[in-house]
Amino acid sequence: MSIELRGITKKFGALIANDSIDLKVARGEIHAILGENGAGKSTLMNIVYGLVKADSGKIFVEEKEVTINEPADALKYGIGMVHQHFMLIPVFTVAENIALGREQTKSGFLTLEEVKQKIKSLAEEFKFDIDPDALVEDLPVGVQQRVEIIKALIYDAKVLILDEPTAVLTPQETDELLSIMRTLKKKGTSIIFITHKLREVQEVADKITIIRLGKVINTVLSTTSQEDLASMMVGREVDLVPEKKAINPGKVILDIKNLSVADASGRKIINSLSLQVRAGEILAIAGVQGNGQSELARAIVNLEDHVLGSIKLDQKEILGTTVQDSLREGIAYIPESRELDGLISSFSIVENLILDVHDLSPVANKGRLDSDFIEKNATKLVKEFDIRTQSIFDTASSLSGGNKQKVVLARELSREVKLVVASQPTRGLDVGSIEFVYEKLLSERSANRAILLISSELDEVLELADRIAVIYKGEIVGEVSPDVSREKLGLMMAGIK
Ligand SMILES: Nc1ncnc2c1ncn2[C@@H]1O[C@H](COP(=O)(O)OP(=O)(O)OP(=O)(O)O)[C@@H](O)[C@H]1O
Ligand SMILES: [Mg+2]
Repeated sequence: MSIELRGITKKFGALIANDSIDLKVARGEIHAILGENGAGKSTLMNIVYGLVKADSGKIFVEEKEVTINEPADALKYGIGMVHQHFMLIPVFTVAENIALGREQTKSGFLTLEEVKQKIKSLAEEFKFDIDPDALVEDLPVGVQQRVEIIKALIYDAKVLILDEPTAVLTPQETDELLSIMRTLKKKGTSIIFITHKLREVQEVADKITIIRLGKVINTVLSTTSQEDLASMMVGREVDLVPEKKAINPGKVILDIKNLSVADASGRKIINSLSLQVRAGEILAIAGVQGNGQSELARAIVNLEDHVLGSIKLDQKEILGTTVQDSLREGIAYIPESRELDGLISSFSIVENLILDVHDLSPVANKGRLDSDFIEKNATKLVKEFDIRTQSIFDTASSLSGGNKQKVVLARELSREVKLVVASQPTRGLDVGSIEFVYEKLLSERSANRAILLISSELDEVLELADRIAVIYKGEIVGEVSPDVSREKLGLMMAGIK
């Protein structure tokens, strides 16, 4: 099925999120959309899916104009969407989530049994494993995402919108998704694919449309070079290989000894792990997601419950204290999930920027908030971190995905700390912002801070790290220097010595 957008315009107050956007996607075409954080990609897709109402513009399906006021209309025309942030209910099973809200189809009602059957046949067709009776909360992210995709396919989506589907996937899960996309394409499904990863775009897309500040800049073929794509997106040249000065690591800042972390059922996630990070160095933890790296980051700031061992920050034991205590002892914490641990969506940007320090000088004076200081500080950070917003008083929920991430980074990297724990710090960021974050982390390193980087982006690990520790099944299985080959690192991450 083909879909065409003509002159789509959407304003939020004075901000033009979509400025007369034209887009044409043919049957069986994979059309990538590239653009900076806040360029208007999600807004455009939300309009097509009926979640946001355009101010003006037309949508054509198979050359016929259609009116889409709500997702039910989009579904009726065969348009399905997987959102930037998953919309599954964790305590429901896969089948329940898929059946939810859409029990009625053209042929009447689908029973849960029928949904399960359909899931099984789709899983077979696309060659992936999925248990319809599994609870969503027990599934790895990659599998959760497949649930979202099945949810769209089970109702016969002919146009599938994927809004940054790979941001949270491991490299292997990404490859699997790209292959599912190719299979869909062969069957004639049209796919609109939003991503910040230029390599993926070149790998699967037929065409690429670049959007900047709400406007279409160009539509090009996927043979366009990464440099050209990046500069069309950002409007300037981008350098993704940061310049790293030689270092001279100082004293041990983070000293973890025999750390064990278990989940609520007592299963060991981290097993007697020890590591040290010195002032002025970046230790990267490389590993396939789900090998304990998330729990490691969380344990350092006392967000995990079942923990044994010792975690010393500048010689002081911090394990067993509170999140607030550990942050105040001098840790900047960039959590893996900005939605869960990084922001309060309904709070303003100003408020989110002072979350950890709202009762400390200079933010507060004698128990009163110093609004003058707070607002000046917010204005300064919004500028420095290039947070795209109309007003510092807007809620975090109004920001685009990447700009939410920048709020977390701005808050955490602007405090005086000894240690930076950065978990997937560039998740969802555009190439220009990634360049900025790399520079920022390297300047923290130059300022003699210890940095623990946890990242599933191999490029990021290899570019930034001074040392790389490989985590596998909750243990550090080896340490290598950043000039290691990708192959060797990949094998170590897979648990092969
Ligand atoms: N409900 C809203 N209220 C006010 N402004 C909004 C709202 N939704 C989006 N915006 C603004 O519209 C602009 C476009 O946002 P959008 O989410 O479409 O960006 P994006 O291209 O998807 O970015 P990202 O790559 O970061 O996900 C942003 O400046 C955002 O702050
Ligand atoms: Mg978006």
